[in-house]
Amino acid sequence: MFSGKDALDNFAATIIKEQIEAHSASVLGLATGSTPLGLYDRLQQMHRHGLDFSGVTTFNLDEYLGLSGDHPASYRHYMQEHLFAGINVPKSNIHIPDGTANDVEAECAAYEKAIMAAGGIDIQVTGIGHNGHIGFNEPGTEFGCTTHVVTLDESTRQANARFFDNSLEQVPRQAVTMGIKTIMQARKILLLASGKDKAEAVAGALEGSVTTRLPASVLQLHPRVVVLLDEAAAAGLAHDNPMVKHLA
Ligand code: PGA
Repeated sequence: MFSGKDALDNFAATIIKEQIEAHSASVLGLATGSTPLGLYDRLQQMHRHGLDFSGVTTFNLDEYLGLSGDHPASYRHYMQEHLFAGINVPKSNIHIPDGTANDVEAECAAYEKAIMAAGGIDIQVTGIGHNGHIGFNEPGTEFGCTTHVVTLDESTRQANARFFDNSLEQVPRQAVTMGIKTIMQARKILLLASGKDKAEAVAGALEGSVTTRLPASVLQLHPRVVVLLDEAAAAGLAHDNPMVKHLA
């Protein structure tokens, strides 16, 4: 779907609202970054108008290694500020990888187990990195990987320095992320992208070959992907591409 960012945010929020209204105990996979901010804003508005999240369980895609949940640039902090403070998901239903776990391998295994124990993810929201990453699965990541520790690409650290007072030095070098296999196991995936700086990654992911060099290209193999793009992010696509029609 090619539209303005507002329409994109509304459409994404409506998909999630309908999921929760159909199944109050839905399991949502959530993302951070700039892209989902409008979606989270809409979900808070919907909650103020009665949408009940009390049965919902959430799993976030990723977290920086070494940042505690009260660090202002941690994804736990982001989620609290931009979504959870304004909706009623019970605290015990919120899952975000613990970037300060002593045994990070055990944390990754426990995260996978918790997703399974919750019955799997109904809808996974994801953005896309300039390098085609989903979650923090950087180019080269095997498609079969589950939640694991990653070393962040320099380009990812540079893109995210804006959350660290524009200081590249402060951006952690590693993170914990759901793996590509974890993401692909979600029953539905909602890929959001806006802005012309995402156009090349979007075109490669949707119309290029499926390759670990562009992790988001794996989504072509998922049967239920909804791709929501504003016009700028869609600019690199050939509009008559059947794959895009299929995905949109
Ligand atoms: P952004 O990040 O929404 O801040 O552009 C997306 C991503 O890196 O996956």
